Amino acid sequence: MFKPDLYSKINNEARRDTRDFIEEYSNEIGQMSGRCLDIGSGPCDVVTDFLLPKLNPKSTVVCSDISKPMLDYAKEKYGANDRLSFLQLDIESPTLAEDLVEQFDHVTSFYCLHWCEDMRQAFENIFELLRPGGSGFLTFVSDFPCMDAYKVLAAMPRYQRYMTDADRFIPVFQHAEHPRENLKKLLREVGFEISHCSRREISNIYDTPNDFGRVMAAVNPFIHRMPAQLQREYEVDLGIEATKNGIFFNKDNNGGYNILCRHHMFVVYLKKPSIN
Ligand SMILES: C[S@@+](CC[C@H](N)C(=O)[O-])C[C@H]1O[C@@H](n2cnc3c(N)ncnc32)[C@H](O)[C@@H]1O
Repeated sequence: MFKPDLYSKINNEARRDTRDFIEEYSNEIGQMSGRCLDIGSGPCDVVTDFLLPKLNPKSTVVCSDISKPMLDYAKEKYGANDRLSFLQLDIESPTLAEDLVEQFDHVTSFYCLHWCEDMRQAFENIFELLRPGGSGFLTFVSDFPCMDAYKVLAAMPRYQRYMTDADRFIPVFQHAEHPRENLKKLLREVGFEISHCSRREISNIYDTPNDFGRVMAAVNPFIHRMPAQLQREYEVDLGIEATKNGIFFNKDNNGGYNILCRHHMFVVYLKKPSIN
């Protein structure tokens, strides 16, 4: 789904957001010690650059991802760090390995959980993975209006056959009337104590639809299914359709413009109750 090299070249904005969230929660993260699990670590630069320095220095992190290419890339780049180890894990799996149950003191995840279609399963797994009394710091997309472009492109005859499952990749809370309330209800039903759950607006500015298309194509589940000659065309169309959900504004008096694209992120800090 993701190409590690390509993703590492376009993840500046996501890195900025995660760095800010980690900074904001540095007190809570500083108290995380023992064995931590990061879910959907991707290339692992975020764990290494931002998370690890804020955790208790005695802590270790198991970096996990559904994607073997991501894990191979991360191992190659950061495998020498003895505070890190690596695990292939689908957080949405209905069959969580027995030997992972209650093996983690803390769980973190950045820009990953919105890829899950079955959020309840993902949170039930996180609950199972945590030891009683363990905590989790999770940030993920609540809604990203530009992703509605998937529906438009999926209806175009030339892309249709590659995008039959387009709905599955639109975040679960994309059109929810009360996304934060819905998420809190789900977390409570799974058994978590919620210390914090907010929904934050994030804005990014792009020069052209093509620039945004390039970023969206790098985190796109469909493009790799297409023949090479169609991929470039798709990237351009994706940029055009996605920026229709953005705001075009003048950048100078010469007719130049920029495009503001907004999305919302959930920021969640939760606990698995201790056994009394
Ligand atoms: C946008 S990247 C974020 C990577 C990293 N956390 C960061 O902030 O740079 C999302 C990552 O989640 C992974 N992912 C997607 N679905 C997953 C799942 N069900 N279980 C575990 N990882 C998943 C992808 O392979 C990808 O590496």
